[in-house]
Amino acid sequence: MNYRHAFHAGNFADLQKHAILLALLEALTADDAPLAVVDTHAGAGAYDLGGDMAQRSGEAQAGIGRLLAMAQVPAVFAPLVARVRALNGGADGPLYPGSPLLIAGALRKTDRYTACELRADDFESLRRTLAPYAFAQATQADGYATAAARAGRGGRTFVLIDPPFERPDDYAQTVATARAVLERDPQGVIAAWMPIKDLETFDAFMRAMETVTDDALAAELRLRPLTDPMKMNGSAMVIVGTPKAAEDAIAQATGWLAENLGQAGAKARVWRA
Ligand SMILES: C[S@@+](CC[C@H](N)C(=O)[O-])C[C@H]1O[C@@H](n2cnc3c(N)ncnc32)[C@H](O)[C@@H]1O
Repeated sequence: MNYRHAFHAGNFADLQKHAILLALLEALTADDAPLAVVDTHAGAGAYDLGGDMAQRSGEAQAGIGRLLAMAQVPAVFAPLVARVRALNGGADGPLYPGSPLLIAGALRKTDRYTACELRADDFESLRRTLAPYAFAQATQADGYATAAARAGRGGRTFVLIDPPFERPDDYAQTVATARAVLERDPQGVIAAWMPIKDLETFDAFMRAMETVTDDALAAELRLRPLTDPMKMNGSAMVIVGTPKAAEDAIAQATGWLAENLGQAGAKARVWRA
């Protein structure tokens, strides 16, 4: 496993994923029902954008850096920017929260959160990041198997699936995990992130998801035309069981990123399979 999220933290894809994640969590914690969250690929928990990996890639500067520089942050990104500033002691600073800190900060004492990370160094950082949260558990275990095993064991299930896509079977594993989770909790909510390189791969994934559910919503962000399939040309969030209250935020976040961070030919498309 070579992937290090520290190179990519705070980039355009994190902005889409994390703004949508916060909108989903807000909707899913609006009533009193306890939530059981599994973050299948949690990463290190939080990132130092002043560090070597982030500085070498420059991706954060073109992502969260753009939002932090704005006098008026677009409303759909205001919750994420507020969380970034809170992590930096209320000001602009180099720290950026990963999905674990965003999830832990949105949950209540009655909810449960399981964060999975396989890499020993990132797991150690994740464990330290989540230590203050009694309802959260960091585990150095396979996220796909953990999500399938934990779903349906109390509380409404919410699973974030955010693989590095280093392995060719990450798409198939995402589909299989969605199927296993929904078998155990048909009301479960699943949000899966993926890169968009070429349309064939994304379409094949959506066709496979149609064999699992008739309720998959795709928020597709293309930052440029898909002429070079070797590049990450965009990103997508595919959500099963989308709460109605989160729909506007999903469309607005994806649309804003295409319009403001995209090149000529960029587009945002939110559609249901
Ligand atoms: C894209 S990063 C996660 C970023 C994080 N979700 C966030 O938004 O801040 C993917 C992480 O998954 C880890 N990983 C890879 N395969 C895994 C598996 N099968 N189970 C758990 N973690 C895995 C990698 O080491 C990497 O840190």
